[in-house]
Amino acid sequence: MKTRILMVCLGNICRSPLAEGILKSKVDPQQIFVDSAGTSNYHVDDCPDPRSVSIARENNLDITSQRGRQFSAEDFENFDRIYVMDMSNYHDVISLAANEEHKDKVSLILNEIFPGENVEVPDPYHGGDHGFKKVYQMLNEACEVIAEKHK
Ligand code: 4NP
Repeated sequence: MKTRILMVCLGNICRSPLAEGILKSKVDPQQIFVDSAGTSNYHVDDCPDPRSVSIARENNLDITSQRGRQFSAEDFENFDRIYVMDMSNYHDVISLAANEEHKDKVSLILNEIFPGENVEVPDPYHGGDHGFKKVYQMLNEACEVIAEKHK
């Protein structure tokens, strides 16, 4: 059975599309299915933010075929692991959980590199290109750890 991993942020146009693209590039698609979603409905069906597309492209990743979608309670059934970017995402996702098993699937993605520290991936939407570069670096490190776990 394939392991199913979901990346979640607020808009599903900046951080989680990058996380999806990065992790996909590090794992065997026959073994791991990776998707992403946003807690909001602000950008349903939208392309990733051009700044995420650009930093991805600089790192030889093409994320342009992704489209925004909203996280829903069904995702708890459809995914084994749900990685969120910040505490606000965490609370929004947990509020839709029906039981402890669902809640146990959810964690901050940077806890993969800083266990138990609850470090957040900052929302780069209102900032400049530097924010996207930083986000890329953080997600790349975390996804490396996630990929290693599934080797
Ligand atoms: P994301 O960034 O959660 O990393 O996709 C955001 C994108 C859009 C908005 C907020 C955050 N927005 O308010 O539209």
